Amino acid sequence: MSHSAAAKPLTARACGSLRGRVRPPGDKSISHRAFLLGLLSVGETLVSGLLEGEDVLNTGRACVQLGARVERLGDGRWRIHGMGLGSLLAPREKLDFGNAGTGSRLMMGVVGGHGVTALFDGDASLRKRPMRRILDPLVLMGAEVLEQAEGGRCPILLKGTSEPAPIEYRTPVASAQIKSAVLLAGLNALGRTTVIESEASRDHTEKMLTYFGAALTSEPFGEHGRKITLEGRPELAPRPIMVPVDPSSAAFLIAAAVLVKGSDIVVEGVMMNPLRSGFLATLLEMGARIDILDRREEGGEEVADLRVRHSDLTGVDVPAARAPAMIDEYLILAVVAAFAKGATRMNGLQELRVKESDRLAATAAGLSANGVKATVEGDDLIVEGGAGSCRGGGLVETHLDHRLAMSFLVMGLASDRPVTVDDETMIATSFPTFRPLMASLGAEFS
Ligand code: S3P
Repeated sequence: MSHSAAAKPLTARACGSLRGRVRPPGDKSISHRAFLLGLLSVGETLVSGLLEGEDVLNTGRACVQLGARVERLGDGRWRIHGMGLGSLLAPREKLDFGNAGTGSRLMMGVVGGHGVTALFDGDASLRKRPMRRILDPLVLMGAEVLEQAEGGRCPILLKGTSEPAPIEYRTPVASAQIKSAVLLAGLNALGRTTVIESEASRDHTEKMLTYFGAALTSEPFGEHGRKITLEGRPELAPRPIMVPVDPSSAAFLIAAAVLVKGSDIVVEGVMMNPLRSGFLATLLEMGARIDILDRREEGGEEVADLRVRHSDLTGVDVPAARAPAMIDEYLILAVVAAFAKGATRMNGLQELRVKESDRLAATAAGLSANGVKATVEGDDLIVEGGAGSCRGGGLVETHLDHRLAMSFLVMGLASDRPVTVDDETMIATSFPTFRPLMASLGAEFS
């Protein structure tokens, strides 16, 4: 797997205008959940449009280790034959999630609510990420942490319980991963599990559980929050899943077209879920020329084609309350902000410190390496834009972080001098077709 492979640097240089139509791959969050719900329902779940990135494939492998039969039928088309709730097998070997926070954390929820013991592990980046936030509620439900590395990190040996206690849990940070882990453990509880979040995070777990037949309610809580209640021990019935296009991957193509002079592209079928649309909202506020065309429904989500043209942008203030709806897009937004007129202030980015890398520090360092003035003030990032241009010429350290690599490659397409990232291999975790799709629009990497 790529995390053990040698690092491969890659350079992006200024190119002519980007032109064409592209359809980015399926959504990573929904693809992970497709495997998990397939595992937890009895019978065959058919998936189309699955993201075949390493993160998701690792989740698929873990499902096989827990007893599912998983078959690839064709491009993005998979069949999962599930064991059903309460019937997981104890895995014989460790579950290796590679780079994937989502896969490992959601699966901790599944294992935590079942009478099996599993060893969770991953690459050097995953081993640095905090897992206590997931283990704490699972322990309240009756799971036991038999072994863990310092500070509640992987490798973690988790012993689940076949009778998880239904709990009411307030998530300490806005995190769909924490919420989802508790709900997935609560599936096997006798009684109601409630999760309260003070800022609403992405709702794919709730939507998919409902689609598979679980009784779940989600109501507003406070100004920005939600209260989600799930009845335990539902009969989960397999349903076909059509995975919509990942807005977090589409973000790189959209940003490239906005930044490269003369560009005019269409990005097809982008998921418009409001809990994922903060980046689009911010770009529009900055003055990006994006037309939202042919809004329609695909796989239970609203999607649209986005026509994106090169744009003159103005810096904006991004409110902290928007963070959950664009948590994975701040890196590419910071790159976009480097080309805007005036400063862009991104508020409340504390969660960026515990992603695939410390994205706050790494983004600021990458911007500085390319001649952009970037300041971290507390949990906020301030980027001074170059009003249409950016020096570039830097070498960016990517710290095993796919989104850092893609963000700075996009910068290189529009900056005066080429930008090099120290390692492109991690891009395969979430967007394996990044290079060919970019090349089809006219982007040059070497
Ligand atoms: C995800 C939730 C987010 C996001 C991650 C995917 C999910 O993490 O950063 O890429 O699929 O639930 P948090 O919920 O921890 O913020």
